[in-house]
Amino acid sequence: MSPFKNFIFLWFAIILVWTAAGADGFTPPGRFRESSTLVANRLYFFGSAKFTQEKDNIYLDVTLSTLNTTNPLWSMSNSIPAGFLYASACVGGPNKNTIYLLNHLTTNNGDSNNIIVYTFDTVTTTWSTPNISGQIPLSRQQFQAVNDTNGKIYMFGGFKYPNPSFDVIFNDIYILDTLSLTWTQGSNVNAPIPRIDFTATLLNNGLILYLGGVAGVGMISMSEILTYNTNSNSWGTMFSTGDRLNSRSCHTAVLSPDGHIIIYGGVISGSTDQSQVLASLDTTVNPYKWSIKPMIGNNIPPSLAFHSSDIVGSFMILVFGVMMANNSFSNLDNVNSQIYLLDTRDYTWVTSTSTSPNSAHPQNPTVTQIQTVIASGSNSLSTGAIVTIPLV
Ligand SMILES: *[C@@H]1O[C@H](CO)[C@@H](O)[C@H](O)[C@H]1NC(C)=O
Ligand SMILES: *[C@@H]1O[C@H](CO)[C@@H](O)[C@H](O)[C@H]1NC(C)=O
Ligand SMILES: *[C@@H]1O[C@H](CO)[C@@H](O)[C@H](O)[C@H]1NC(C)=O
Ligand SMILES: *[C@@H]1O[C@H](CO)[C@@H](O)[C@H](O)[C@H]1NC(C)=O
Repeated sequence: MSPFKNFIFLWFAIILVWTAAGADGFTPPGRFRESSTLVANRLYFFGSAKFTQEKDNIYLDVTLSTLNTTNPLWSMSNSIPAGFLYASACVGGPNKNTIYLLNHLTTNNGDSNNIIVYTFDTVTTTWSTPNISGQIPLSRQQFQAVNDTNGKIYMFGGFKYPNPSFDVIFNDIYILDTLSLTWTQGSNVNAPIPRIDFTATLLNNGLILYLGGVAGVGMISMSEILTYNTNSNSWGTMFSTGDRLNSRSCHTAVLSPDGHIIIYGGVISGSTDQSQVLASLDTTVNPYKWSIKPMIGNNIPPSLAFHSSDIVGSFMILVFGVMMANNSFSNLDNVNSQIYLLDTRDYTWVTSTSTSPNSAHPQNPTVTQIQTVIASGSNSLSTGAIVTIPLV
């Protein structure tokens, strides 16, 4: 080949590789204080406290047959109309595929007095700012909201800066009905102490569990679990048993299919190693019971805070966040851009969902097939029937 042909070939090869990378998605730079939510097989991430990414709307394809840590399939979608950080995204709407961002920033990045809800229709990929009536809450940040499966979003706590001249930490709970587009205030009887940077997890029985975080008075004990009953609209407290966990904030929590809340990372008080970074709360026993889990498997994540964790089938997907060194933020530029996968059936970190040691078991144990034989009347022959029992 002539040098000129070589040159052309090289550029052709570079363009080919570049196009292939583009077709497989892109690799988003690390970020923190984003918010994540799952719709169908797409895990969306909104915003970041890194200001070049504060309007980002990106998603990861989390199809379990192809998901791995070496070549995650990322895509970019239409940017958020406003900066979005320290806040929370939930799912609702009549078709259960609209994402609701509970934001404190206006499109000019001014701090709004009341909360602004920006909605993203995942089918048409369009943003709107619907008019919402009712008891509109004051805007806030550093909280986690949760949605149920009937279009309701529960938003508790967080703090407002400034209001108008000093910071206020909230202990109120507001409910956004995404079907009627109305806000109502939940119960304030036996209202808890105000808190920020906690996690909120809705159990299948309608109880929301608030874990950890920081209160006006300091850190909150991990064994004193605040509950909000969405059926009766009432507050309660459950004292857990099992391992004693150090207090923490800015961690994440997911609910596994077998009823365990799995927490990861955060700012853990009095802990300078990874010994308490992963723990699970068994909510199928009364009282609930904590166990600290060892970090085992392949592709074990570093200690992280301000990251995202989500559950897809039996796998916890952990992305982004700030790397913690000796439990302090050494450097807010030291952010994670990798994805990590935890098989929640045995608490091992894996590099792919399809080659997990447990992959011989059902990937998504939400449906069990039970074969029963039904005798058919006077006929001596039997007919078989497959009864599918959804486990909810
Ligand atoms: C990871 O997943 C991607 C996308 O499905 C696939 O192209 C790649 O071969 C997988 N890599 C490994 C090591 O499994
Ligand atoms: C929202 O309400 C305002 C004032 O009532 C009105 O001017 C505006 O057109 C409404 N926007 C939408 C999207 O309905
Ligand atoms: C949030 O809403 C979506 C859509 O209805 C649903 O798939 C998901 O399970 C809900 N989350 C919880 C914790 O119920
Ligand atoms: C963390 O603390 C240990 C023990 O005090 C020290 O040796 C190490 O250098 C520290 N690491 C960082 C990144 O600060």
